[in-house]
Amino acid sequence: MDKILNWIDDRFPLTALWESQWGKYVAPKNFNFWYYFGSLAALVLVLQILTGIFLTMNYKPDAAKAFESVEYIMRDVNGGWIIRYMHSTGASMFFVVVYLHMFRGLMYGSYRKPRELTWIFGCIIYLALMGEAFFGYLLPWGQMSYWGAQVIVNLFSAVPIVGEDLGIWIRGDYTISDITLNRFFAFHVIAVPLVLVGLVAAHLMALHETGSNNPDGIEIKKQPKDPATGLPLDGIYSHPYYSVKDIMGVVVFLAVFSVIMFFVPDMGGYFLEANNFVPADPLKTPVHIAPVWYFTPYYAMLRAVPSLFGSQFWGVVVMGAAVMIFFALPWLDRGAVKSIRYRGPTYKAWLAAFVVSFLVLGYLGVVPVTVWGQFPENWPLVGTADCATVVSRVLTVVYFLFFLLMPWYTARDRTKPVPERVTG
Ligand code: HEM
Repeated sequence: MDKILNWIDDRFPLTALWESQWGKYVAPKNFNFWYYFGSLAALVLVLQILTGIFLTMNYKPDAAKAFESVEYIMRDVNGGWIIRYMHSTGASMFFVVVYLHMFRGLMYGSYRKPRELTWIFGCIIYLALMGEAFFGYLLPWGQMSYWGAQVIVNLFSAVPIVGEDLGIWIRGDYTISDITLNRFFAFHVIAVPLVLVGLVAAHLMALHETGSNNPDGIEIKKQPKDPATGLPLDGIYSHPYYSVKDIMGVVVFLAVFSVIMFFVPDMGGYFLEANNFVPADPLKTPVHIAPVWYFTPYYAMLRAVPSLFGSQFWGVVVMGAAVMIFFALPWLDRGAVKSIRYRGPTYKAWLAAFVVSFLVLGYLGVVPVTVWGQFPENWPLVGTADCATVVSRVLTVVYFLFFLLMPWYTARDRTKPVPERVTG
């Protein structure tokens, strides 16, 4: 084995790559529960690509055949059902994992100097992931696939002046059609996955350049070296320590994943919507069109913004801004400390308000706006709006204030002193 490895190393930096990216990568020794989700995101990415390859072997990107080809995969292809459920469960679990991964970043200030680029690559990954999920959702050509795509592409038509042409350009047609299906297939199966894999590589290279943050927000690279090991006092090798720990995370995750996949693959309509088991019908608009759960916080914001002169444009701007604002985070936070452990009550309260608004908006994006009935007529500022719309408006404001007021409240927060060594 050594001979083979030496032969390769003389021609390609295999051992050097392994050692710099994992084998001899020095990580803080106090990673906790929240640090499982990076490796789990990588696992789900691989899972999606592998199951996707097998689905593509039997799927037909043709408006006349797509729906039936998925049914064929589910009923007739050997093991087809499990491959499809792995892929559909994987799509939702990808977002669960990525949202938890991002939340960890918020809690421990992992986006801050010197890890801004790791964060920026992460934000682009998040955008690409949303695109990937959107393109993929059209492929089964069910009612929700069709009408969901219709609604989202129509949003682009709300852009002033060029909107109409933009919509036609995206669809390749005047309505969502076979042409749209073909191009979405191309994006879903090859273009976006390639971009995603490249971005994840860049994300990890950037992280391994700066070194990982940790739950205490202490920079271990700045610590004195342990004379015995030559490593920073609180540093350990990723391998074997975090290899073993991550495998533990993978086992628990796959157990949860299997329970969903085998017992509740549709997750009560959240992972696979009932209306998507009905073939797409361009002549029959479903009564209630809602995107899949991972888009619903933004969808609730879109619905919350009143249309101006009959155009949804400002709703689209708010929705877009809600995603893009994550990019600015490293420059908005002016706190004296990184980790939530040493932040003061103000940051904690704002983070809690942000999480609550994201979750409640997520809920409100799933249900019809009439869910909580109407405000009594003609309230000042509210008029005759639905209660859910009013709540969505307030929460949208809270969501943005979390970011926009951050330079102000983080600078004034009563922080605690950060210890020299990690606390475990
Ligand atoms: C396919 C999606 C993604 C994959 C495979 C991935 C993978 C990873 C891995 C393996 C790590 C190191 C282990 C860990 O710290 O958990 C990591 C760290 C990190 N990721 Fe991601 N990531 C993804 C998406 C994102 C997104 C969407 C963001 C933020 C918008 C993000 C932000 C970060 C940050 C800030 C770190 C450093 C954390 C720290 O050192 O405390 N990642 N990522």
